[in-house]
Amino acid sequence: MVKKSRVLNNINLSISKNDIFGLVGITGSGKSTILRLMNGFIEPDCGSIKLMGKKLDYKTKYDLVKHTSMIFQNFNLLNNLNVIDNVILPTKLRKGIKKENIKKAKELLSFVGLTNFENANIRTLSGGQKQRVAIARSLITNPKIIFCDEPTSALDEKMSYDVLKLLKDINDEFETTIVLVSHDISVIKALCNRVAIIEDGSIADVITLKTNNLTPVSYKEALLHDE
Ligand SMILES: Nc1ncnc2c1ncn2[C@@H]1O[C@H](COP(=O)(O)OP(=O)(O)OP(=O)(O)O)[C@@H](O)[C@H]1O
Ligand SMILES: [Mg+2]
Repeated sequence: MVKKSRVLNNINLSISKNDIFGLVGITGSGKSTILRLMNGFIEPDCGSIKLMGKKLDYKTKYDLVKHTSMIFQNFNLLNNLNVIDNVILPTKLRKGIKKENIKKAKELLSFVGLTNFENANIRTLSGGQKQRVAIARSLITNPKIIFCDEPTSALDEKMSYDVLKLLKDINDEFETTIVLVSHDISVIKALCNRVAIIEDGSIADVITLKTNNLTPVSYKEALLHDE
């Protein structure tokens, strides 16, 4: 018999429209599980989740979930499709979503700083470029919420900065709510206005952060100064 273990306890969390909300905590604390509950990937054993003010019903969840996108640590791009076909893919797979055209995909590629990359082979891109393709793909369905699970953990500081700056620009420009899981406090501090600290499957604290300015990475500065 498989022993059922409880992963999360007493999670009571409210995220406002246009927040960049962080979930921070050590490995195994339950961050990804909370995110996967919020985006409808998994169903809670008890309790309920509301998305955009409506209860997430697991039989009809698609009606709500189609207004969300997901960004992963390992990008989750299809290597057998070129850049633009990866960007357009969600519009082909998702029902009830406007079939976006190549023009919109090109605009998004320009927005993420990848003009002229549309026919590139995914394997030829750097990690940062791959994540920017994934971000363009996440935007093609005009999501109201973007869920990000460790979006910069596979990237070096410079590439992390580019990706975080892009997420901030998306939040500013499209008023997209962003929920960001990270174990990296500097990532959370750079981006989030509120953050829940997850410990052992529970919320230890929810903290409001002051707005931080994202500063481009300079290796020389970082090496020569403590802060
Ligand atoms: N499907 C599952 N079945 C059983 N246990 C699970 C399942 N998914 C996650 N867990 C357990 O739940 C706990 C929380 O996992 P979760 O992946 O949410 O942690 P995390 O905070 O995202 O960690 P990391 O920083 O390593 O990604 C872990 O102990 C994990 O082993
Ligand atoms: Mg995780």
